[in-house]
Amino acid sequence: MALVSSLELINKAREQKKAIAAFNIHNLETIQAVVEGAYELNSPVIIQTTPGTLKHAGIESVAAIVKALAGMYDIPIALHMDHCPSFDTIVRCIKNGYTSVMIDGAVLDYDENVKLVKSVVKMAHAVGVQVEGEIGRIGGVEDDMFVNDTDAAFTVPAEAKKFVDDTGIDTLAVAIGTAHGMYKGEPKLDFDRIKEIDSLINIPLVLHGASGVPDESVRKSIALGMAKVNIATELKNPMAVVIREVLSNPDENDPRNYMGAAKKAVKEVVMNKIRLCGTVDFADEF
Ligand code: 13P
Repeated sequence: MALVSSLELINKAREQKKAIAAFNIHNLETIQAVVEGAYELNSPVIIQTTPGTLKHAGIESVAAIVKALAGMYDIPIALHMDHCPSFDTIVRCIKNGYTSVMIDGAVLDYDENVKLVKSVVKMAHAVGVQVEGEIGRIGGVEDDMFVNDTDAAFTVPAEAKKFVDDTGIDTLAVAIGTAHGMYKGEPKLDFDRIKEIDSLINIPLVLHGASGVPDESVRKSIALGMAKVNIATELKNPMAVVIREVLSNPDENDPRNYMGAAKKAVKEVVMNKIRLCGTVDFADEF
């Protein structure tokens, strides 16, 4: 299948109080783990890259691998650019076949942020690509981006509505108590805030920082309107553990062995998250 529209997946999931799992990938094996895991469960899936991953792996290579795998497996797969601050990088993503993008103007003041997001929306919509925006500030670490507790800011529902109206984005990432990276204690999600934001705006909400959030809280967030769930760290951790374990044998030097073992571990997490998002066999609906 050719790559599909992220929004079509997310909208249909939202109607049925499900969410599309969106996995941050880093290399060939993590892409394979996501696609194979989704295929085994007959689920749609979103594959996403950060600017750091594109720097590491190259936009053309990543897009070519994802497109090749999408052609081999009969499930709906979307390719999304995550937390991108640059208009130009987004243009390159779109030229390489990405089906949605997140423009992240969080460091800008409100008016500048709106200006940037609107320009991306105008350009992306002209070629049928959807745009995710963020209002409020999600804390934690992703790529080179570090937002400490003082700078992290919960999304204010009225501001979320204004931001959506002002920009014309298709999906909205909100700060409701999750953070990128793993948590020291149990994260406390503000469910009332999700509910209020969802009642004010009519586009799907995106849960960032889902790694380490208890399953019950993820389920509740989905029931309240989160229709895309982003997972990064929970794929990275088991991969590192497994590679360390395999390489503890000083004679082991075969990437097919340690990367193969890592791929298996990542696939297991992918499948658990897809089950959590409620999209087993949901591929049949597309
Ligand atoms: P985690 O690393 O906490 O899973 O966050 C992923 C994310 O939100 C990507 O944008």
